[in-house]
Amino acid sequence: MTRWLVVVLAVVIVAGGLFGYDQGVISGALPGIKADFSLSVLMVQVVTSWVTLGALVGSLAGGALSDQFGRRRTMLLAGALFTFGAAVQWSAPDAAILVVGRFIVGVGVGVAAVAAPLYAAELAPASLRGRFISSYQLAITIGIFLAYLVNAQLIGGQLPASTPWRAMLGAAAAPGLALLLIALIAPESPRWLMMINRRAEAKSVALKVEPAIEVDGHLDSIEEALRKDKEAAPWGEIFHREWRRPLMVAIGLAVFQQITGINAIIYYADQIFASAGFATEAARATVTTWAIGGVNVVATLIAIAFIDQVGRRKLLLAGLIGMGASLIVAGAAFRFIAPEGQATAGPTVAGIVTVFALVVFITSFAFSLGPVTWTVINEVFPARVRGRGVALATAINWGSAYLVSQFFLSLVQAIGSSMTFWLFALFCVIGWVWVYRAVPETKQQSLEQIQKLWASTASAASLFK
Ligand code: BGC
Repeated sequence: MTRWLVVVLAVVIVAGGLFGYDQGVISGALPGIKADFSLSVLMVQVVTSWVTLGALVGSLAGGALSDQFGRRRTMLLAGALFTFGAAVQWSAPDAAILVVGRFIVGVGVGVAAVAAPLYAAELAPASLRGRFISSYQLAITIGIFLAYLVNAQLIGGQLPASTPWRAMLGAAAAPGLALLLIALIAPESPRWLMMINRRAEAKSVALKVEPAIEVDGHLDSIEEALRKDKEAAPWGEIFHREWRRPLMVAIGLAVFQQITGINAIIYYADQIFASAGFATEAARATVTTWAIGGVNVVATLIAIAFIDQVGRRKLLLAGLIGMGASLIVAGAAFRFIAPEGQATAGPTVAGIVTVFALVVFITSFAFSLGPVTWTVINEVFPARVRGRGVALATAINWGSAYLVSQFFLSLVQAIGSSMTFWLFALFCVIGWVWVYRAVPETKQQSLEQIQKLWASTASAASLFK
């Protein structure tokens, strides 16, 4: 690891942390916001969801921005948006301004969520690429965990009643500023410099980041990949027949990552633990922070250790089995759990089983679909369409996340908790079959080799190793 690789890693970690903090913070902030602005249920949802909307817009713009202005400047912009949006939220005099602040932060999150993993994929040496991109996922989980901790701390503190939510949301300016500062000194991606014909600069950056690299060969292989056209492809080209397979793999993973239920569980953990007999808010905060937040961080560390040796496919296939099985168990346990409002004095057996199942679910997600999705999305596209392809897959991931969190409660009302968990389990089964058939192994291959892989094989089946 050179000093510059550490800087690259720092950019990735701060950008991921920003994403995660935002995922985790709103649950603790909502009660204070509701009280201060006397929000209707509709407005509560708007305040919550406009970040997702902003992120959708940001992720769609992120690819074009990082092709146009470079990966580094795009991350500067994301840092600035995030800091500004956090300040707007912190000082919001009314709900409308708060929503504007949420949207701005969301755009920053979406832009960073595209630019940072793209940057990591382009700058990390092939042997470390999986680990670099999984570090992004690790940072997301640490961000979620930190947000839970900050919330608990602020709720428990002696602050005046209306203060905590401003402090919670305003604290997001810190990672925003950190991203700005690190992006100021970070190196630009040599692949992007090659795209805009600045080979000399690309050479000096590549040598700075990886002094041992055979630099001319490396740049030649980038150039070969870019040869057909050095400009970024127009949007429409991403749908071209030629890129259909990488596009399907990226979109498929983006969708399965969400429709198997991760965010429904992260979001409703508190409610689930309430039914499981954790009566006090403090007990629920503790079990949510550690059983969900903490386990998520630790299991992601496992993925980082193994992703480049074990490979993407095996992790995905194993993780989907763990996720599906634990969802089936959770669904069964819910048959025996008292309806809400009738919580027992302490955790029931079914409640303990549910906690255990959720820990297995989070663990299985965190070593598979969590990090592998982002890794694969960022390595399957050829340079020419990579920015757009990653942006599209990321936007679809946000869109799916939005739909699942919108649907979850209505689904529980319509078919019950057990059936809802079993539906997620069914998606795990479908996801497993799809991964088995469609997702090739990409570990230890350079981005250019991965392109040759698409071209040289007629079907995914011949890629299974
Ligand atoms: C997903 C998020 C999820 C997080 C949980 C990420 O990979 O994209 O939607 O909340 O993992 O750790």
